[in-house]
Amino acid sequence: MTKFRSLVMRASAIALFLAPLLAVAGEGEGMASAQVDLTDKASLQRGAALYMNYCSGCHSLTYQRYSRMGEDLGLSEEEVEQNLIFSPTAKIGETMNTGMNPVKAGAWFGKAPPDLSVEARTKEAGADWIYNYLKSFYADESRPSGWNNTVFPNVTMPHVLWELQGVQHAVTEAKHEGATCPMGEFQGQCIVSLQVPESQKGTLDPEQFDRVARDLSAFLAYVGEPSATRREAIGVWVVLFLAFFTLLAYLLKSEYWRDVH
Ligand code: HEC
Repeated sequence: MTKFRSLVMRASAIALFLAPLLAVAGEGEGMASAQVDLTDKASLQRGAALYMNYCSGCHSLTYQRYSRMGEDLGLSEEEVEQNLIFSPTAKIGETMNTGMNPVKAGAWFGKAPPDLSVEARTKEAGADWIYNYLKSFYADESRPSGWNNTVFPNVTMPHVLWELQGVQHAVTEAKHEGATCPMGEFQGQCIVSLQVPESQKGTLDPEQFDRVARDLSAFLAYVGEPSATRREAIGVWVVLFLAFFTLLAYLLKSEYWRDVH
């Protein structure tokens, strides 16, 4: 009986310990995982270069300084200055603002491009959301920019990476009465997939483009929480310490109770 009870106790302790992990795993259902790895410096460096080339013209990162980015990504000041600072007036210690005037940008796009400093944290699916968003643009003549997006329907941002990915088109199926379309609608029909026709292929193949989207998502995840990598490294030591301390406490307990049993 006591054996059974202790077994139950142990099982519930393990369940309690695992519950938060399972809760996290369930987040952002229906989205492909970006498999972002914040310890992968090469991925973050590629992401930073892609960001500066394709995104910084419109979006700012007002909470991020060039210098801090260099430090965290393992780049020297010269490397950052030569490869990642495009604005002729920006200095290494400054925040990564865009040269675009938000009022004018608002007039061009109908909406000012938002600051992306904490973008990865504002979405429930985090960096995975950005990854899926970047992969989900498709041609739509009815939109002012000529682009639409299944993750962000009627988005005003154009598909800035189209030369890399190619031009995706929506493949649709008739919509049944009362049915909902999980990927949204296009011309009154349900979108079932997005495909690039042979004649409109981009310069990258799909795997290479996935990597581009992953590197950008990883970079924005890093920007959203620049201390995450350091904190996680400390976390490992904390867990190891706790495990060691538990063992010590257990040995001590055995020692104290030896004479009683
Ligand atoms: C030509 C200007 C322009 C460029 C370049 C651009 N964006 Fe955007 N972006 C916008 C605009 C405008 C919006 C607002 C869309 C809306 O709300 O309809 C936006 C929105 C976004 C959002 C969604 C923000 C939200 O509402 O949660 C993300 C994420 C994003 N952009 C990422 C990127 C990334 C990554 C790049 C580079 C690959 C990029 N953008 C390049 C103009 C741009």
